[in-house]
Amino acid sequence: LSIGLSAQVIYGLGEHLGPFAKPLNQWKRFVLWNRDAEPNPDRNLYGSHNFLLAVGGGGRAFGIFLLNSNAQESHRDLPNYRGILDFFVFVGPTPKDVIQQYHELLGPPMMPPLWSLGYHLCRFGFGTLDRLKFIYERNVKINIPIDVMWSDADYMDGFKDWTVGAEKYSGFDTFIKQVYSQHRSVVVIVDPGIKNNSTGYLAYDLGLKMDIWMRTADNKSYIVGAVWPGDVLWPDFTHPNATLYWQRSSNEFLLKYPVDGLWIDMNEPSSFYQGSDTGCPNGNPLDFPPYVPHIIGYNILYQGTVCPSARQYLGSHYDLHNLYSYFEAKATWQVLRTRPDGQKDNRQRQFVLSRSTFPGIQRFAFHWTGDNNADWYNLRYSLSTILSFNLYGIVNTGTDVCGFNSATTEELCIRWTQLGAFYPFMRNHNSLGLPDQDPAAFSPIAQQIMRYHISLRYAFLPYMYTEFYRATANGSTVARSLMEEFPNDEETWLIDNQFMFGPALMICPVTVEGAVDRQVYFPPSARWFDVHAQYFAEVTPKGLQTVPAPLENIPLYIRGGHVIPMQDPGNDTYHQKLLQPFLLIVAPDADGLASGSLFWDRNGVDDLSLGNYQLMEFSASKGSLSSRLVHQFPIGVQMQLFGLQVLGVATKPANVIVNEWQEEAVYVQQRLALRQQPGGGGPQESAKGQLELTDISARVFKSASWQ
Ligand SMILES: *[C@@H]1O[C@H](CO)[C@@H](O)[C@H](O)[C@H]1NC(C)=O
Ligand SMILES: *[C@@H]1O[C@H](CO)[C@@H](O)[C@H](O)[C@H]1NC(C)=O
Ligand SMILES: *[C@@H]1O[C@H](CO)[C@@H](O)[C@H](O)[C@H]1NC(C)=O
Ligand SMILES: *[C@@H]1O[C@H](CO)[C@@H](O)[C@H](O)[C@H]1NC(C)=O
Ligand SMILES: *[C@@H]1O[C@H](CO)[C@@H](O)[C@H](O)[C@H]1NC(C)=O
Ligand SMILES: *[C@@H]1O[C@H](CO)[C@@H](O)[C@H](O)[C@H]1NC(C)=O
Repeated sequence: LSIGLSAQVIYGLGEHLGPFAKPLNQWKRFVLWNRDAEPNPDRNLYGSHNFLLAVGGGGRAFGIFLLNSNAQESHRDLPNYRGILDFFVFVGPTPKDVIQQYHELLGPPMMPPLWSLGYHLCRFGFGTLDRLKFIYERNVKINIPIDVMWSDADYMDGFKDWTVGAEKYSGFDTFIKQVYSQHRSVVVIVDPGIKNNSTGYLAYDLGLKMDIWMRTADNKSYIVGAVWPGDVLWPDFTHPNATLYWQRSSNEFLLKYPVDGLWIDMNEPSSFYQGSDTGCPNGNPLDFPPYVPHIIGYNILYQGTVCPSARQYLGSHYDLHNLYSYFEAKATWQVLRTRPDGQKDNRQRQFVLSRSTFPGIQRFAFHWTGDNNADWYNLRYSLSTILSFNLYGIVNTGTDVCGFNSATTEELCIRWTQLGAFYPFMRNHNSLGLPDQDPAAFSPIAQQIMRYHISLRYAFLPYMYTEFYRATANGSTVARSLMEEFPNDEETWLIDNQFMFGPALMICPVTVEGAVDRQVYFPPSARWFDVHAQYFAEVTPKGLQTVPAPLENIPLYIRGGHVIPMQDPGNDTYHQKLLQPFLLIVAPDADGLASGSLFWDRNGVDDLSLGNYQLMEFSASKGSLSSRLVHQFPIGVQMQLFGLQVLGVATKPANVIVNEWQEEAVYVQQRLALRQQPGGGGPQESAKGQLELTDISARVFKSASWQ
């Protein structure tokens, strides 16, 4: 089916690496077939999302979603669809409306636990628990804020799921409990392939007994793949007993090793065999269909995966391949929801991270963009992928900060950490055999810059968390393009090297080696305030401008019209939440108006549905700011305001009143800033591991006015 689109630019049709916008004037093929492949342009990658957002004159928009789990191919100039045609059309009329309509169809994304918005540290190849501990502790020692320590497959015994290597990782349970007692978290990897090892390996024995493996086309035997542990069998997660199987095989492990989250990898599914240990014999037409989309790997569907003819409970792998991770994520989410009650608070919101994706998986899992390379191209286009996944509803997405494959450089890792600080999900991760790239591995100057930017992320956490709430409650992106916020402004349509976090924060990363300035487009319809300038000076003139971008800072702007809740950054989200009251930044628009909100809760698994949260709205106009409690936490939480900064106030206020207390005026008149050294050198301040926000002791959220 070919269709003509009355649009000028389209977005979506992923997962692919490359520009965010896809102009309609060039012929190109887009292929969707979940595949374990390092992100490179024009390849089919780990996920399949046949959703497009089309934008035309005046910013009018519509969307098209083809719900189809087969291998697919779309062609432009004209979108051209093949296969079972099951369409959903979203009529907009704005890009935001289209996104909301699509997300409503898919179901809301899972609200992330607050701790998972902190900084995550990982690598493949710690090799031993001692090394993992050493890396964790050396970053704690230099005051890098950190919430989550990860283990890639090193921790396992012979790469077998739900096992721990007896020698190299002995004491892993004690370490997990130690990290937990510091109110930080541990996440570990599991892969779907279960090693065929019958010598008392529970996950294998149980799978045989419960008969949940994927079978060969003739139903005579199980289909055998190969992954890290060697030969494996694949749980068929569409089988009605598969979730029970996954729970029963993991129970003992989770009791002894009370990890906070699970990371599901290799779930395209990826196999080191082509099809199976014996290939895909017998010429089954599902393995050799008459037309194969232009996938990588010699156009053979079963390259690096399971034979499409393999039998699953719900049908053939041919139809279910792109859904493998969806069903695995759902079962894994269920495992965490019903985990055995050990030392862990099992009422916490779940954390599952998946490499492979399909529409709807956001109800059970978050996403990272796979095995990227440590190069400037991958840094640059990580942004397009994250913006695209936000369109797909998988808003909590990140890219391996500093790069996964090949050795990073100090400059690249600094620039990547600056951008990563504003990814929805921020994890530093690299591969086996590569030099360390945790912050402590670099020079003191690099450490300072990284510490400053990670702290900046923590300072903005209340704002970010609130944006995640909006996405969950209402259907929206978190990381979003300028096009989405300024659809009438055609200049924004192709921009994918600067972006917005929510409606109020504009981030302009440096993605060119050696650059110390960059061009930034300031949409003229808004006011912009420069976070790194003294007193957040307003940006003039607007439009396309060259701005300084020394290695120490990522260009970062606050948009007028918004109130941004912030906190003094802590060394982790727990202590920050516990100890630190809030700061509000009020950035008025041209009419002096601003609004914003703050969502706060306890990470509880059912907090949203039970109403266990606090939601406040702020609005500023004519020299006054007031707050309104929209939803009150039933048990009552004390939330203190300790700072208020109003941007763009031209003259010193004569009079400031906070609630009834005139005496607060003297403090409010001291303009607050994220304190910086002259010359905008933020990092110097962060040598203490903190960004400091001046205390004005306003004590309660209610109202303030200045005249
Ligand atoms: C698993 O391995 C055993 C022993 O090597 C072998 O006999 C058996 O056929 C294998 N099972 C499958 C399903 O491949
Ligand atoms: C099965 O696992 C056990 C325990 O880890 C190991 O000793 C044994 O060598 C494995 N057997 C095979 C055939 O890989
Ligand atoms: C496939 O084989 C299994 C095990 O022999 C059997 O229980 C099942 O009924 C078979 N399924 C079909 C559709 O024949
Ligand atoms: C699931 O397990 C139950 C209990 O063991 C069994 O009776 C049932 O047949 C299984 N379902 C399938 C589809 O195998
Ligand atoms: C939800 O979306 C609607 C329509 O876009 C918007 O008017 C409303 O303000 C949103 N509510 C929240 C809480 O974001
Ligand atoms: C983090 O900071 C808090 C409060 O200052 C402190 O009690 C805690 O020990 C720190 N955590 C680590 C791991 O250093």
